[in-house]
Amino acid sequence: MKRIDVLTLFPDAFESPLNCSILKRAQENGIVEIAIGNIRDFAKNKHGSVDDKPYGGGPGMVMMPGPVFDCFEHVRKLSAQEPRVILLTPQGQRFDQAKAAELSSEERLILIAGKYEGFDERIRLGLGAEQISIGDYVINGGELAAMVVIDAIVRLLPGALGDEDSHKDDSFSAGLLEYPQYTRPEVFRDMKVPDILLSGDHGKIAQWRREQALERTKRWRPDLLGETEKTES
Ligand code: ADE
Repeated sequence: MKRIDVLTLFPDAFESPLNCSILKRAQENGIVEIAIGNIRDFAKNKHGSVDDKPYGGGPGMVMMPGPVFDCFEHVRKLSAQEPRVILLTPQGQRFDQAKAAELSSEERLILIAGKYEGFDERIRLGLGAEQISIGDYVINGGELAAMVVIDAIVRLLPGALGDEDSHKDDSFSAGLLEYPQYTRPEVFRDMKVPDILLSGDHGKIAQWRREQALERTKRWRPDLLGETEKTES
Protein backbone atom coordinates (compact mmCIF):
# COMPACT_ATOMS: atom_id res chain seq x y z
CA MET A 1 0.00 0.00 0.00
CA LYS A 2 1.13 3.53 -0.70
CA ARG A 3 1.39 6.06 2.04
CA ILE A 4 0.94 9.83 1.89
CA ASP A 5 1.61 11.96 4.97
CA VAL A 6 0.67 15.62 5.02
CA LEU A 7 2.16 18.16 7.43
CA THR A 8 -0.10 21.13 7.99
CA LEU A 9 -1.21 23.78 10.48
CA PHE A 10 -4.83 23.11 9.51
CA PRO A 11 -5.59 19.38 9.76
CA ASP A 12 -9.35 20.07 9.79
CA ALA A 13 -9.12 21.36 6.23
CA PHE A 14 -8.47 17.79 5.06
CA GLU A 15 -11.42 16.15 6.84
CA SER A 16 -14.07 16.47 4.22
CA PRO A 17 -12.06 16.05 0.99
CA LEU A 18 -10.39 12.89 2.30
CA ASN A 19 -13.64 11.44 3.56
CA CYS A 20 -15.81 11.34 0.51
CA SER A 21 -16.00 9.65 -2.85
CA ILE A 22 -12.90 8.16 -4.47
CA LEU A 23 -10.38 9.25 -1.82
CA LYS A 24 -12.49 7.75 0.93
CA ARG A 25 -13.00 4.47 -0.93
CA ALA A 26 -9.31 4.20 -1.86
CA GLN A 27 -8.36 4.44 1.82
CA GLU A 28 -11.06 2.00 2.91
CA ASN A 29 -9.92 -0.48 0.27
CA GLY A 30 -6.28 -0.32 1.39
CA ILE A 31 -5.06 1.26 -1.85
CA VAL A 32 -3.54 4.23 -0.07
CA GLU A 33 -3.00 5.29 3.52
CA ILE A 34 -3.23 9.04 4.10
CA ALA A 35 -2.22 10.52 7.46
CA ILE A 36 -2.24 14.13 8.63
CA GLY A 37 0.42 15.54 10.97
CA ASN A 38 -0.32 18.76 12.86
CA ILE A 39 2.73 21.07 12.83
CA ARG A 40 1.31 23.05 15.74
CA ASP A 41 1.65 20.00 18.00
CA PHE A 42 5.41 20.58 17.70
CA ALA A 43 5.42 24.27 18.63
CA LYS A 44 8.20 25.10 21.07
CA ASN A 45 6.70 27.73 23.37
CA LYS A 46 3.57 27.90 25.46
CA HIS A 47 1.85 30.20 22.97
CA GLY A 48 2.07 27.51 20.31
CA SER A 49 4.02 29.77 17.92
CA VAL A 50 4.84 28.28 14.56
CA ASP A 51 5.62 31.48 12.65
CA ASP A 52 7.58 34.68 13.19
CA LYS A 53 8.51 37.97 11.50
CA PRO A 54 10.92 37.79 8.56
CA TYR A 55 14.56 38.68 9.20
CA GLY A 56 15.38 41.76 7.15
CA GLY A 57 11.87 43.12 7.51
CA GLY A 58 8.90 42.97 5.18
CA PRO A 59 5.24 42.05 5.46
CA GLY A 60 3.67 38.94 6.90
CA MET A 61 4.99 36.00 8.85
CA VAL A 62 7.28 33.13 7.98
CA MET A 63 6.94 29.49 9.10
CA MET A 64 9.65 28.65 11.62
CA PRO A 65 11.87 25.66 10.87
CA GLY A 66 11.78 24.03 14.35
CA PRO A 67 8.14 22.86 14.49
CA VAL A 68 8.21 21.72 10.84
CA PHE A 69 11.42 19.69 11.33
CA ASP A 70 10.13 18.09 14.54
CA CYS A 71 6.76 17.24 12.98
CA PHE A 72 8.58 15.85 9.93
CA GLU A 73 10.89 13.68 11.98
CA HIS A 74 7.98 12.33 14.02
CA VAL A 75 5.90 11.55 10.93
CA ARG A 76 8.77 10.02 8.98
CA LYS A 77 9.20 7.36 11.66
CA LEU A 78 5.57 6.25 11.31
CA SER A 79 6.69 4.06 8.41
CA ALA A 80 10.02 2.44 7.50
CA GLN A 81 9.66 3.48 3.85
CA GLU A 82 11.89 6.41 2.78
CA PRO A 83 9.65 9.25 1.60
CA ARG A 84 9.88 11.65 -1.30
CA VAL A 85 9.40 15.07 0.33
CA ILE A 86 7.42 17.84 -1.35
CA LEU A 87 6.71 21.43 -0.32
CA LEU A 88 3.60 23.02 -1.76
CA THR A 89 4.52 26.55 -2.78
CA PRO A 90 3.95 28.94 -5.69
CA GLN A 91 7.72 28.79 -6.23
CA GLY A 92 7.52 25.13 -7.21
CA GLN A 93 7.55 23.31 -10.51
CA ARG A 94 4.07 23.53 -12.06
CA PHE A 95 2.01 20.41 -11.35
CA ASP A 96 0.59 18.56 -14.34
CA GLN A 97 -0.69 15.12 -15.34
CA ALA A 98 2.82 13.84 -16.08
CA LYS A 99 3.92 14.82 -12.57
CA ALA A 100 0.83 13.17 -11.10
CA ALA A 101 1.70 9.95 -12.96
CA GLU A 102 5.32 10.14 -11.80
CA LEU A 103 4.34 10.66 -8.14
CA SER A 104 1.70 7.92 -8.28
CA SER A 105 4.49 5.36 -8.67
CA GLU A 106 6.22 6.42 -5.44
CA GLU A 107 5.70 4.21 -2.39
CA ARG A 108 5.67 7.11 0.02
CA LEU A 109 5.22 10.88 -0.11
CA ILE A 110 5.38 13.51 2.60
CA LEU A 111 3.63 16.72 1.52
CA ILE A 112 4.23 19.90 3.50
CA ALA A 113 1.60 22.63 3.27
CA GLY A 114 2.74 26.15 4.09
CA LYS A 115 0.82 29.11 5.39
CA TYR A 116 1.66 32.80 5.78
CA GLU A 117 4.36 34.43 3.61
CA GLY A 118 6.18 31.16 3.17
CA PHE A 119 8.67 28.71 4.63
CA ASP A 120 11.96 29.58 6.29
CA GLU A 121 14.41 28.62 3.53
CA ARG A 122 16.12 26.11 5.83
CA ILE A 123 13.03 23.90 5.66
CA ARG A 124 13.57 23.30 1.93
CA LEU A 125 17.32 23.02 2.29
CA GLY A 126 17.38 20.84 5.40
CA LEU A 127 14.68 18.39 4.33
CA GLY A 128 15.98 18.07 0.77
CA ALA A 129 12.46 18.82 -0.41
CA GLU A 130 11.33 19.41 -3.95
CA GLN A 131 8.71 22.08 -4.56
CA ILE A 132 5.41 21.87 -6.40
CA SER A 133 3.00 24.64 -7.40
CA ILE A 134 -0.52 23.87 -8.61
CA GLY A 135 -0.52 26.91 -10.92
CA ASP A 136 0.66 30.45 -11.44
CA TYR A 137 -1.52 32.08 -8.80
CA VAL A 138 -1.29 32.41 -5.04
CA ILE A 139 -3.80 30.78 -2.72
CA ASN A 140 -3.98 31.24 1.03
CA GLY A 141 -1.99 28.17 1.93
CA GLY A 142 -0.69 24.86 0.71
CA GLU A 143 -3.65 22.83 2.04
CA LEU A 144 -5.81 23.08 -1.07
CA ALA A 145 -2.73 22.53 -3.22
CA ALA A 146 -1.86 19.35 -1.27
CA MET A 147 -5.41 18.10 -1.75
CA VAL A 148 -5.24 18.73 -5.49
CA VAL A 149 -1.99 16.76 -5.69
CA ILE A 150 -3.36 13.89 -3.57
CA ASP A 151 -6.57 13.71 -5.59
CA ALA A 152 -4.73 13.64 -8.93
CA ILE A 153 -2.33 10.95 -7.71
CA VAL A 154 -4.80 8.63 -5.99
CA ARG A 155 -7.13 8.35 -8.99
CA LEU A 156 -4.21 6.91 -10.95
CA LEU A 157 -3.55 4.11 -8.46
CA PRO A 158 -4.68 0.67 -9.65
CA GLY A 159 -8.12 -0.09 -8.24
CA ALA A 160 -8.92 3.47 -7.14
CA LEU A 161 -11.50 4.05 -9.86
CA GLY A 162 -14.19 1.41 -10.26
CA ASP A 163 -13.29 0.94 -13.92
CA GLU A 164 -9.57 0.27 -14.40
CA ASP A 165 -9.51 2.12 -17.70
CA SER A 166 -11.43 5.22 -16.59
CA HIS A 167 -8.44 7.49 -16.31
CA LYS A 168 -6.82 6.38 -19.57
CA ASP A 169 -9.08 8.68 -21.63
CA ASP A 170 -8.83 11.61 -19.20
CA SER A 171 -7.85 14.97 -20.56
CA PHE A 172 -4.03 15.35 -20.71
CA SER A 173 -3.30 11.62 -20.34
CA ALA A 174 -2.49 11.44 -24.06
CA GLY A 175 -1.45 15.09 -24.21
CA LEU A 176 -4.89 16.09 -25.51
CA LEU A 177 -8.17 17.29 -24.04
CA GLU A 178 -10.83 14.63 -23.67
CA TYR A 179 -13.35 13.94 -26.46
CA PRO A 180 -17.01 14.96 -25.91
CA GLN A 181 -19.12 12.58 -23.84
CA TYR A 182 -22.86 11.92 -24.08
CA THR A 183 -25.35 9.84 -22.11
CA ARG A 184 -29.10 9.40 -22.21
CA PRO A 185 -31.42 10.81 -23.46
CA GLU A 186 -30.65 10.57 -27.15
CA VAL A 187 -32.26 13.96 -27.79
CA PHE A 188 -32.21 16.71 -25.19
CA ARG A 189 -33.73 20.13 -25.97
CA ASP A 190 -33.31 19.55 -29.68
CA MET A 191 -29.64 18.55 -29.26
CA LYS A 192 -29.00 15.07 -30.58
CA VAL A 193 -26.25 12.62 -29.64
CA PRO A 194 -23.91 12.28 -32.69
CA ASP A 195 -25.07 9.34 -34.84
CA ILE A 196 -21.64 7.73 -34.80
CA LEU A 197 -21.88 7.06 -31.06
CA LEU A 198 -25.08 5.08 -31.66
CA SER A 199 -23.62 3.13 -34.60
CA GLY A 200 -21.99 0.35 -32.59
CA ASP A 201 -18.91 0.60 -34.85
CA HIS A 202 -16.12 0.71 -32.27
CA GLY A 203 -13.37 1.39 -34.79
CA LYS A 204 -15.19 4.41 -36.19
CA ILE A 205 -16.08 5.63 -32.71
CA ALA A 206 -12.46 5.47 -31.61
CA GLN A 207 -11.37 7.39 -34.71
CA TRP A 208 -14.09 10.03 -34.21
CA ARG A 209 -13.07 10.49 -30.58
CA ARG A 210 -9.42 10.95 -31.51
CA GLU A 211 -10.40 13.58 -34.12
CA GLN A 212 -12.65 15.37 -31.65
CA ALA A 213 -9.94 15.37 -28.98
CA LEU A 214 -7.46 16.85 -31.43
CA GLU A 215 -9.98 19.42 -32.70
CA ARG A 216 -10.89 20.60 -29.19
CA THR A 217 -7.27 20.78 -28.14
CA LYS A 218 -6.41 22.88 -31.22
CA ARG A 219 -9.31 25.22 -30.47
CA TRP A 220 -9.07 25.53 -26.70
CA ARG A 221 -5.55 24.56 -25.69
CA PRO A 222 -3.21 24.86 -28.69
CA ASP A 223 -0.33 25.24 -26.22
CA LEU A 224 -0.63 21.50 -25.47
CA LEU A 225 0.09 20.44 -29.04
CA GLY A 226 3.40 19.50 -30.61
CA GLU A 227 4.30 20.77 -34.09
CA THR A 228 3.13 17.59 -35.91
CA GLU A 229 -0.27 17.58 -34.23
CA LYS A 230 -0.88 21.24 -35.05
CA THR A 231 -0.79 20.46 -38.77
CA GLU A 232 -2.59 17.08 -38.48
CA SER A 233 -6.23 17.26 -39.55
N1 ADE B 1 0.53 27.97 -1.79
C1 ADE B 1 0.07 29.18 -2.19
N2 ADE B 1 -0.13 29.21 -3.52
C2 ADE B 1 0.22 27.97 -4.00
C3 ADE B 1 0.25 27.38 -5.28
N3 ADE B 1 -0.11 28.05 -6.38
N4 ADE B 1 0.69 26.11 -5.37
C4 ADE B 1 1.07 25.43 -4.28
N5 ADE B 1 1.05 25.93 -3.05
C5 ADE B 1 0.63 27.19 -2.90
